[in-house]
Amino acid sequence: MKTVNIAIDGPAGAGKSTIAKMVSAQLGYIYVDTGALYRTIALYVNENGITDENIAQALSGADVSLKFIDGKQCVFLGDRDVSDLIRTPVISMEASRVSAIPAVREYLFETQRKIARENNVIMDGRDIGTVVLPDADVKIFLTASAQERANRRYKELSEKPSCPCYEEILSDIIERDKNDMNRKTAPLKQAEDAVLVDTSELSLEESAEAIRKIIAEKLDGRAE
Ligand code: DC
Repeated sequence: MKTVNIAIDGPAGAGKSTIAKMVSAQLGYIYVDTGALYRTIALYVNENGITDENIAQALSGADVSLKFIDGKQCVFLGDRDVSDLIRTPVISMEASRVSAIPAVREYLFETQRKIARENNVIMDGRDIGTVVLPDADVKIFLTASAQERANRRYKELSEKPSCPCYEEILSDIIERDKNDMNRKTAPLKQAEDAVLVDTSELSLEESAEAIRKIIAEKLDGRAE
């Protein structure tokens, strides 16, 4: 039976993962965070001192996989669960860098396609609607101003002991946007048939509601 595929793309910090998690739990779909795959490659590259020149060859030894444990996505490097290790600012920037390398994108392509073939999914990333799942049933491009995204990230991090300042967060976001939008292979951009949602002025609940509405309209009852 054909599975239902929902693609959500957009820049870092637009709220994709939080909203996709909320909506997928309600629909009973699997939520796939594809950024975690690029982050895991970044970790692999960092830990093994791999250069851009030998990355294509080194990928065959990477063994990156996603597992869904009680509905929650965990990402593995070999048999090591690295889901928490990949959530650092250094890995964020490194993931943005290695994701521009065509061999890295090729390596992760089939992993993403296979999950979508076998499950009803909400998959988030940068090129899901344009490259990975061009025939997705629903495509959403979720965005917000860089200032608002930095604001949200700052609030999230300000409870942690070593919180970077707002300006640092904003400049990281701007740099990542630039990398992700300007790379040659599969850059971040809105698919022609994607619905644009700007969450700059919306609360989390309002954003989730907007997404639910788009999905319900597009699927026209098929998500029941
Ligand atoms: O969504 P995230 O911030 O965890 O993603 C980390 C980096 O991975 C992001 O800066 C660009 C890259 N990425 C990508 O190129 N394509 C995707 N589908 C998902 C993420």
